[in-house]
Amino acid sequence: MAQQPRSDRTIPLEPTTLRVALLGCGVVGTEVVRLLTTQAADLAARVGARLELVGIAVRDVEAERDPVVDRSLLTSDAEGLVEKADVVVEVVGGIEPARSLLLRAIEHGAAVVTANKALLAQDGPTLYAAADAAGVDLYFEAAVAGAIPIVRPVRESLVGDRVQRVLGIVNGTTNYVLDRMATEGLDLDAAVAEAQALGYAEADPTADVEGFDAAAKAAILASLAFHTRVSIDDVDRQGISSVTADDVAWAARTGHTIKLLAIAERSDEGVQVRVHPALVPLTHPLAGVRGAFNAVFVEAEAAGELMFYGRGAGGAPTASAVLGDVVSVARHRVLGGRGPVESAYAALPVLPASAARTRYQVRLEVTDQPGVLAQVAAVLAEHGVSIEAVRQPPGRALEPGVDDVAQLVISTHTATEAALRATVAAIEGLDVVRRVLSVLRVEGA
Ligand code: HSE
Repeated sequence: MAQQPRSDRTIPLEPTTLRVALLGCGVVGTEVVRLLTTQAADLAARVGARLELVGIAVRDVEAERDPVVDRSLLTSDAEGLVEKADVVVEVVGGIEPARSLLLRAIEHGAAVVTANKALLAQDGPTLYAAADAAGVDLYFEAAVAGAIPIVRPVRESLVGDRVQRVLGIVNGTTNYVLDRMATEGLDLDAAVAEAQALGYAEADPTADVEGFDAAAKAAILASLAFHTRVSIDDVDRQGISSVTADDVAWAARTGHTIKLLAIAERSDEGVQVRVHPALVPLTHPLAGVRGAFNAVFVEAEAAGELMFYGRGAGGAPTASAVLGDVVSVARHRVLGGRGPVESAYAALPVLPASAARTRYQVRLEVTDQPGVLAQVAAVLAEHGVSIEAVRQPPGRALEPGVDDVAQLVISTHTATEAALRATVAAIEGLDVVRRVLSVLRVEGA
């Protein structure tokens, strides 16, 4: 039987040209230019139209650039550039002027591809609403975990399932730092200095080390996974600056490794989103994520456990994610329509950190005398926190000349953050407790 003609097919007979504007030409932008240039023929075949780079907006048009960048495309007039593009790619970062430029692009009917996690985590809804009103695409695969496809899988592949929990190592710098502390016994400052020397960490490493970068990504992932609105302000954030070499060594002795995790959980009451260093059992797949790599572990009701792994930063890996989005939105331009949009229909309450339920490991320095363990255990019992194990390592003298102290390492069963905090405060008040050395959550067990 003869096939019916495909009357609905809208691919033009002659390839058209789509105008691409690039905002920013740093490490990622340069690699975007390289891919657009070196793979032009393949991209045209995949899109069904030629992608023409019509301009690159930069702060300093005189600055030295990689030879792949055609200097005649450089402009300082970003506003003018976005008005003449079909697709605007933003790799500048930060809130302004990125937000105004993207809103302007959307108003002019351009599809937008952005890697800007800070902007999406702070003011995503404004951009989503503008894109909806204009009927254009807003894609941002590169905003979370660089090259790793995670936005699209969560937004599209898992949209028929019910995601319960997302656990992510979404900051390569801190993963590198913690990995070096674990493998080389470095202290935090030495490991951060090494990360800076290798170009992973910025001169001011605050955004990475204090967990702001991971918190932005956690907010974006939580919003997508749970079809609700989560902003960076909803994320309970703790970085790795308080993690000591001793904590890392102790993690290993108890069969764990310390990772900075971005965690988004859904319960009957709402969602809870947090970023903090956590003890991860060595048997968990996230424990094997080494160096500056990223990974996102997703638990969904029907799919079960999934893990997405790869390079979370760097020019070429991030550009790969950007180009994937460029091809997608360009295809929509050619074929008509737009891709899946953000959905926040669930409108779930965001729960405070105190509601989070996890297991804990608490390390104490105590006076070494009979009855101390009983006093500590009594405080845990009073607060309803159940003990899973207690260890008292040999080699008591932690300080020269002090020989009547011991270390206690208490692992708990699941407890709320509120109960644990109250417990630790009460333990600190015991005369026999010299100091609380660390309180770490155990995740992924
Ligand atoms: N600074 C981030 C990291 C990459 O270390 O993973 C950009 O989000």
